Parts: sequence; structure tokens; C-alpha cells
Amino acid sequence: MLEEQRLRIEGRARRLRRTESIRRMLRETRLHQDMLVAPVFVTEGEGRVEEIEGMPGVSRHSVDELPKYLERLTGAGIRGVLLFGVPDSKDEAGTGAYARDGIIPRTLRAIKPSFPELVAMADVCMCEYTSHGHCGVLAGKEVDNDRTLPLLARAAVEYARAGADVVAPSAMMDGQVLAIRKALEESGSDDTIVMGYSAKHASAFYKPFRSAAGSAPSFGDRRSYQMQPGNRREAMREIRLDVEEGADMVMVKPALAYLDVIAEARRRFDVPLAAYNVSGEYSMLKAAALNGWLDEKLAVQEVLTGIRGAGADLIITYFAEQASRWIEEGW
Ligand code: PBG
Repeated sequence: MLEEQRLRIEGRARRLRRTESIRRMLRETRLHQDMLVAPVFVTEGEGRVEEIEGMPGVSRHSVDELPKYLERLTGAGIRGVLLFGVPDSKDEAGTGAYARDGIIPRTLRAIKPSFPELVAMADVCMCEYTSHGHCGVLAGKEVDNDRTLPLLARAAVEYARAGADVVAPSAMMDGQVLAIRKALEESGSDDTIVMGYSAKHASAFYKPFRSAAGSAPSFGDRRSYQMQPGNRREAMREIRLDVEEGADMVMVKPALAYLDVIAEARRRFDVPLAAYNVSGEYSMLKAAALNGWLDEKLAVQEVLTGIRGAGADLIITYFAEQASRWIEEGW
């Protein structure tokens, strides 16, 4: 082909962007309501709907208030929720995490019969339930990995028994997926899906979540168990270990600063991949939008498209309900 002819064909990219219909037809990355999961915070008490500091538009709900809220989510086309318990009392050993009548089992028993189609995912961690706010039990000032494993396994078994479709260990303890998978099988919950928070980074972007759940560590930080940013090879190792231990799905968290990790995980592994667009990522967009500094709808569309484009099958986001409505309207 002559050089001039080649340029006439290949060099004119704008031809394909001329009208809205052409652009829509040629869109490479599409978002679908089915891929959105809404995180849900559940508190003790009755009649409580409390807006979370730093997360305008996101609230904690008491169990009795949940059906109304879940109607809204499912009405918007949401198929999955990720449940977080916010108990009134906490202790050194985080007993609320694995108590049979703890907040998450009670929530699951209350909602599952009325929302059988909703995919109920339950976060499995200790930090919302421990008085010190760390993700496992302590040995001195350290988190004791191996003494935490049976407690996470007990929690997962209780959640599965109470009706969770998916249990999602987020404590970043080594061997947590294997411990949970074994315990689920031994207790007859073979069908419960395990979604590993496999590449979970020690991130500044969890701060609003910790105020929502009252789970900030009372001393130190989580850097001895959560991953340091920028270690993509280590992230692949964490994901590989979770897959070998029996994770049905894996996750990269947070999403925006880790799109490279999402993209590489997509290339390397065949299990479904979730990305968690975390609390601080919500807060920064929301704050800018409320100040009129950003157009919220356009910004949310762009961010979720980027996460999807990087390779996430599932996006866990506090924008889920709103984004789902926008997707239905065709943005
Ligand atoms: C529990 C957990 C955290 C998040 C999800 N599960 C907090 C943390 O690790 O401190 C954060 C989610 C968010 O910021 O939206 N370990």
C-alpha cells in the first residue's frame, strides 16, 4: 500500500468519533448493572439509618431498616451486596465476628428469605469486632496469624449457615482461604463461594470505611499484613496462593491506584476477578462533585469504565445504586 493511501485510511481516527450513535456502537468497554456490587453496613438497634461521615449518600442501616434499602437497591437492578457488620460492643478476641447470633448471621437470616435472588456476600474479618481494631487476635503488639485462622473459619461457617452465598475473607492472614474452604466443606457448606480479598493493599483510601465501621486500629497500622503499594509481582503471588487454596473468585483492592494489578491479574488468572472501588475513592469523587468541581455522572462513568477496562468482572462500589440507574438510562 502506498504511504499516502495508508495514512488516508489509518490516520483518520476521528471519523469513528463523529456522532453519539457511532461512538456508542464502537464502544469497547461497556458497563452492565449485573457487574455492580453494593457494600452495605449493618448496625445494631432499631430504626437506625445513619449517614456515614465522609461518605455523603451512604448510610449504616439497622436490620429492621434493611428491607426498605434492599428494595431500593434491587429495584435499581443491583444483584449483589457485600455486608459489613458494625456491632455495638467489641472485645479483645472479636467474638462478635463468629458468634452464631452476631450481627451478620442475624442480618442474613432476616434478609435471605425475602431476597432469595440477591447474592449475599459477607465480609469475613475481625477488625470491626475487635476492641483494638486489628484484623486478627493479638500476641503482644503483633497480629497472630495462625491463632486468627480458626476464628475466621468459624465466622465463615456461621455466615454460610445463615445464608451467605459468598464469604469474602479480608483479614490478609496467610492461609485464610484454605482454612475457610476446609471448614466450609467439613460443615456441609460446599456450595458457598469464597471470594478472596487476595491483593489487598495497606491504603489511605480505607479511612472513611473505618469511621463507618469504627474499625481503625487503636495502635500501629495494618502494614504488617496488608500489602504495600507498588508490588505487582507480590500481588500476583497473593492471588496465585488464594487460587491454590481454593478461592472461587479473587479481588484487587483498592481499584484506582491498582489498575495495573487488575490488568495483569486478568491476563494471568482465569477465575472471576473483582475490583473494590473503596470508600476513599468514593469520598474524593463525591466531595469534588458536591463542590461543583466535577460532574459526578461523567466522573463515575469514567472511573467505572476504567476499572472494567482494566479487566474487572465485578466492581464493588458505593456508587452501585446510582451507577445502576444511570446505566439503565443509558448514561
Ligand atoms: C476489613 C475491611 C476494610 C475494608 C473492607 N474490608 C477495612 C480495612 O482493611 O481497614 C475497606 C473498604 C473500604 O474502604 O471501602 N478488613
